[in-house]
Amino acid sequence: MTAETPAPPDPDGPERPARRGWFHRAVDAVDERMGIKALTYPVPEHANNLAWSLGGITAVAFVILLVTGIYITQFYVPIPEDANQSVRDLVTDVWLGGFARALHYWTAQAMFVLALLHLLRVFFHASYKKPREGNWVVGAAMFLLTFLAVFTGSVLKWDQEGYEALIHNLDVAELLGGAGIWFTDELTDRVPILLRLYSAHVVIVPGLILVLFVWHALLIKRHKISPHPEITVLSVESPEPFTAHLKRVGAFGLVLLGLLSLLGILVPPVVGPTPVGGIEVTRPLWMFWWFFPLEEWFGVASIVYVIVAVFGLIFLVPFLDRSPKRRWRERKPVLAVAAVLLLALAAITIQVWIANPKGH
Ligand code: HEM
Repeated sequence: MTAETPAPPDPDGPERPARRGWFHRAVDAVDERMGIKALTYPVPEHANNLAWSLGGITAVAFVILLVTGIYITQFYVPIPEDANQSVRDLVTDVWLGGFARALHYWTAQAMFVLALLHLLRVFFHASYKKPREGNWVVGAAMFLLTFLAVFTGSVLKWDQEGYEALIHNLDVAELLGGAGIWFTDELTDRVPILLRLYSAHVVIVPGLILVLFVWHALLIKRHKISPHPEITVLSVESPEPFTAHLKRVGAFGLVLLGLLSLLGILVPPVVGPTPVGGIEVTRPLWMFWWFFPLEEWFGVASIVYVIVAVFGLIFLVPFLDRSPKRRWRERKPVLAVAAVLLLALAAITIQVWIANPKGH
């Protein structure tokens, strides 16, 4: 038997796959176990600008709130006797305590504004139309929860402004009768309402936002980003992987973090002395100012009606506007109604700012 000599490699034979670098092999190994490549799905070119990244930047604001919130929670005492002093101590005695509080305060307002701008972007581009009606409702629920988070947070510092916010909470709860008992002192005399509002602020509301955000994100992936109403099928779109979109959102988020940090250093939030009962002299944060004239003209009940009306309208948008038209030129009446409502709310807010510089 003759020993077989191995055949020389065939120069025209099948090509060997190029050896992959350690980074790609590591990514493949992690992907096999964690499915991370699911993040590389294509995102259309038109979704890579600021307007179409507002939802992502809102999510970045939420992350900043979670991080700063977890830090300041370590030093806050949620019982009426100590709450106000613990906030003062946080600012004066805790390493970076004042900065973390200021960043939390400004980011909360930024998240509200960003969510509102994102809502307006989705509305303007008719991105809530079939099949995205459900995701609009999920988004509207997150917006309502953001509003609630700002409200419950403003009570916690337990100064005159926080206390007056709580009194409104109790007045509204009373109006709701049995349904409002959760928001009153009557539910239990063992746990102060401040402590229950605190648990809503640090667990219930952010927990619900988190769950809804996961749902929102899964629906975005399932439906894909909506087409741009002005871009026709004939125009060329070159999608990028979602990971590239994520990098851009991260860059916008870093700019946001820088701006809010600067704001926090230059304009730190104040905390007043412990509250006095029976008076109403402060002004809440600006997103609640549209309640002022209503309360003065029609009493506290009007706050409930107007919240239900405004948020109810937001929730119902996809069901009220069933037309398949997406281009703004074909939707002028719908856009005009929204603009009038928005301008009315803005006008009330500016009027309160000018007429009530300090408070009620
Ligand atoms: C409050 C926190 C919110 C977060 C973190 C969030 C996050 C996002 C993100 C990351 C996107 C991808 C596209 C984009 O950024 O424009 C998106 C899309 C969407 N969001 Fe939100 N969102 C929020 C609130 C809302 C609100 C208030 C609404 C409306 C009431 C809404 C309705 C929608 C809809 C319908 C889409 C799909 C849009 C499309 O495909 O073009 N979201 N959201």
